[in-house]
Amino acid sequence: MGFWNRWLPDTNFRPEFEGPRSEERTRSGVRVEVQRLNKFFGAHHVLRDLDLGVEPGETFVIFGPSGCGKSVLLKHITGLLLPDSGRILVDGEDLQAGEGRRRFRMAMVFQSSALFNSLSVGENVGLWLKEHRVSGPAAIASVVAEKLQLVGLSGSEHAMPSELSGGMKKRVSIARALAVNPHLILYDEPTGGLDPVLTEQIGHVIADLKQLKITSLVVTHDLNLGFAVADRLGMIHEGRLIEVGTPERIRATTNPVVQAFISTQMKVLAR
Ligand SMILES: Nc1ncnc2c1ncn2[C@@H]1O[C@H](COP(=O)(O)OP(=O)(O)OP(=O)(O)O)[C@@H](O)[C@H]1O
Ligand SMILES: [Mg+2]
Repeated sequence: MGFWNRWLPDTNFRPEFEGPRSEERTRSGVRVEVQRLNKFFGAHHVLRDLDLGVEPGETFVIFGPSGCGKSVLLKHITGLLLPDSGRILVDGEDLQAGEGRRRFRMAMVFQSSALFNSLSVGENVGLWLKEHRVSGPAAIASVVAEKLQLVGLSGSEHAMPSELSGGMKKRVSIARALAVNPHLILYDEPTGGLDPVLTEQIGHVIADLKQLKITSLVVTHDLNLGFAVADRLGMIHEGRLIEVGTPERIRATTNPVVQAFISTQMKVLAR
């Protein structure tokens, strides 16, 4: 329970599955604004006045070399880390200002998938709904079936995680995130550790989910994936976003640091 509460919204806010309440947002995605975010670990200044704006419903890809601060940025958005200075606003509400966290739902897809091995696929996907007593078993089963269908795993409720490939585990982990009906979904290296075929499958799932218009933040150093799913991408270098733009614009960049990163990545991928 505590584990889930660290990154899922406050229990006082109950998701609705019976249809929107009057105060429910009319769109599914929220706007995210990161303003002058600074984070130090001791003397190591990881995020340096980082600014980022993600539009409602947008799929925004963050890329950059290992250790540049991509996961640290996501952890600030989930609340696992607190800024030394700067603010994060979600639909204009400051995340650190009390109630902000309760007005929307976010979910994270972990690099490791982080499934509970002793629970079936269906139980993993429906766990948050069950623990928060959102609805009865029949309604939960129907949400679970719907979310598994969205990731191409219809009918796999009774499988155990140990029976699944890495790509299937990742898809279950995406279905579990979707079960919260999130306004914001965060992916940390969604294809990390997967072979090219499975990577492509996950890319298709993330691209298909764009129709749901959930604001999506995808952290990856896989630029093939990034270019395939992004509305816009941004590169982190020396603690800040040094370039932001559409896939076309980033491909045509004249910034030498971005160019160098792209060409190195593409060489690695071509091997
Ligand atoms: N809890 C922590 N304590 C101390 N240093 C940390 C902590 N978390 C992250 N760091 C440091 O912050 C820097 C950024 O880490 P981060 O995990 O965000 O990198 P990343 O961009 O996600 O890299 P990768 O692509 O390898 O996942 C690294 O130098 C890391 O060692
Ligand atoms: Mg990381």
